[in-house]
Amino acid sequence: MVAKQILVYVVLLLCCLVTVHNCHSIQTTPLQNRLSKAISCEECRLGAQLVDSLIEINASTTDIIKVVADLCIKSGFEQPDVCEGILTNYVPIVLDVLLESELSPGDLCDYFKLCNSTDESSDAEFYHQNRVYRQKEIFTDCSRQSPKITPKALKSNSTVGYFLQITDIHFDHDYVVGSDPDCGRPLCCRNGTGDAGVWGNYQCDLPFNTVEAIFQHLSTLEDQLDFIIWTGDNPPHNVWDPNSKSNQIAATQTLSALVLKSFPSTPVFPSIGNHESFPSDEFYLPNTQWLLDVLYDSWEPWLDSDALQTVSTYGFYTSLVRDGLRLISLNTLDGDMINFYNLLPTRAVNQTAWFENVLQQAVANDEYVIIAGHIPCTLKSGVSDEWCTMYQQLVEEYGSIISAQIYGHTHLDQISVYTDTETFSKPIGVNYIAPSMTTYQNHEPGFRIYEYDYSLNQVTNYYQYHANISDANLYGQLNFTLSYSAKELYDMPDLTSNSWFQVANHLRSDDQMFNNYYNFLSNHPNGQTPCTGECRDKVICEIFGITSFQFDQCMGV
Ligand SMILES: *[C@@H]1O[C@H](CO)[C@@H](O)[C@H](O)[C@H]1NC(C)=O
Ligand SMILES: *[C@@H]1O[C@H](CO)[C@@H](O)[C@H](O)[C@H]1NC(C)=O
Ligand SMILES: *[C@@H]1O[C@H](CO)[C@@H](O)[C@H](O)[C@H]1NC(C)=O
Ligand SMILES: *[C@@H]1O[C@H](CO)[C@@H](O)[C@H](O)[C@H]1NC(C)=O
Ligand SMILES: *[C@@H]1O[C@H](CO)[C@@H](O)[C@H](O)[C@H]1NC(C)=O
Ligand SMILES: *[C@@H]1O[C@H](CO)[C@@H](O)[C@H](O)[C@H]1NC(C)=O
Ligand SMILES: *[C@@H]1O[C@H](CO)[C@@H](O)[C@H](O)[C@H]1NC(C)=O
Repeated sequence: MVAKQILVYVVLLLCCLVTVHNCHSIQTTPLQNRLSKAISCEECRLGAQLVDSLIEINASTTDIIKVVADLCIKSGFEQPDVCEGILTNYVPIVLDVLLESELSPGDLCDYFKLCNSTDESSDAEFYHQNRVYRQKEIFTDCSRQSPKITPKALKSNSTVGYFLQITDIHFDHDYVVGSDPDCGRPLCCRNGTGDAGVWGNYQCDLPFNTVEAIFQHLSTLEDQLDFIIWTGDNPPHNVWDPNSKSNQIAATQTLSALVLKSFPSTPVFPSIGNHESFPSDEFYLPNTQWLLDVLYDSWEPWLDSDALQTVSTYGFYTSLVRDGLRLISLNTLDGDMINFYNLLPTRAVNQTAWFENVLQQAVANDEYVIIAGHIPCTLKSGVSDEWCTMYQQLVEEYGSIISAQIYGHTHLDQISVYTDTETFSKPIGVNYIAPSMTTYQNHEPGFRIYEYDYSLNQVTNYYQYHANISDANLYGQLNFTLSYSAKELYDMPDLTSNSWFQVANHLRSDDQMFNNYYNFLSNHPNGQTPCTGECRDKVICEIFGITSFQFDQCMGV
């Protein structure tokens, strides 16, 4: 009986701890791999049955948290404060979702891909396909929209301009210089004694002075930038802190003020990241309306009233960048695997319908479209196949007017190449996934500048920059270096989907090209360990693996 009880709590615990571990190891293994190593399908199902009976006997949430936390602490899974905090934050949500949906705990085993979805009792797919929406979709009249800050004239007489992408800033106001970077918690450098440097540490989120120094540098580029895409994730990775809602809010407000101060006359297009919410990754209306209100106020300087209206309704918006070029900023929490609310059969707004409607109107208005969002469709980002299938279909249908797709979230420097859904052999689009500004975990801080040709409506190159935190801590100064330019590094004639498709295929046979891609993938301060065989296959299939089906197919399983 004791063993069985342990399983109950392990299942529940896993569902909750996924959040922590997902960020812990985001650069090494996808969520599902980590989970399936920790627990088998049978154990999950057995545990799930027992969770079921626990719910039936009306065990209180507090009791469940207490017992699970005790188990978590005794097993040494995490430090006591992390165990208690993470369970306090997530258990009530998991239980609510189980009670409100018609899902059984066993469906979580399928959802997290611990068991074959063809097994009996798999209702998750059914509920996804039969999702109903509580409110009417919102449609906006795209033709009336124009950004508040009018785009500046091009910097030269050429038709080429530049835009900046900043992403995953994750600054930590509680960073303490000289604290312990190896504290045995998901986020350190906050207390104890150690070598956490003035400019940062590779195991931790960024101290605010480093973020300020980076923006100080970026602000000197303002004259060269037509606009800025800011793809979210502002607060630190202290996801177990039960009192961090006000800090989540402050992070978005502080960074919005810093961006505005650094770029007083440049249009900025922000997107919502999974860490903006509290608890991190959980988004559901009306529960999360407070966050939309914060975004409304923080993004107000850059967006017009129509865009702000959809921001306050669901966190997405569209806005003209200039005549003939539109930006769509998505709320990708709808695709977040660890947004447990996505298991509920209802959502407040049909984002897909809105997205498709904006694309249709863009076609009618002869506009090109840049799509910006936080979580990209790649296995490493813990995103649902349901979301990616929808996204891939729209990219396929509207590929001819989609001129760029700009994402972040993985902290890695990745591309993701879309192919047609019938033969998987015709390139139809590319996601640019830019690496993080935070050093968490084991990256040099980065930012990216895209070169965009307004007559071709194409990204024609991008320039990836990084600072060296070891050097900065050593010499007391933060310098930025060009890591590479895409066109030169991959020897590309242009940056069309076709050319990226060819590069991605060449990675299979061209060792030099693969090593280039792999080395910049994590921008690791100490260089990369070699990646061959299955490691190499995974890195390459990740590029084509928009859904887990496509990833498996590419891997030959
Ligand atoms: C649990 O609560 C429900 C509704 O409040 C009640 O009908 C049921 O008898 C309770 N079950 C137990 C085992 O106490
Ligand atoms: C899923 O089913 C396949 C084929 O029946 C089997 O080979 C595989 O081991 C199963 N996987 C799991 C996790 O049960
Ligand atoms: C752009 O063109 C105008 C007039 O055709 C010319 O006066 C100006 O010098 C040009 N500017 C650049 C940067 O080439
Ligand atoms: C650091 O903070 C944690 C949580 O607040 C606490 O449990 C721990 O004892 C502290 N460690 C030191 C060395 O002060
Ligand atoms: C949401 O919108 C999409 C695209 O228009 C549509 O295919 C789907 O059926 C809608 N879902 C619901 C539940 O209305
Ligand atoms: C950063 O600087 C250190 C120390 O000078 C050096 O060993 C390392 O290679 C540099 N890293 C990068 C990415 O340039
Ligand atoms: C940064 O650049 C300046 C000017 O080029 C140079 O003097 C300084 O040594 C550099 N610092 C580091 C840490 O590389």
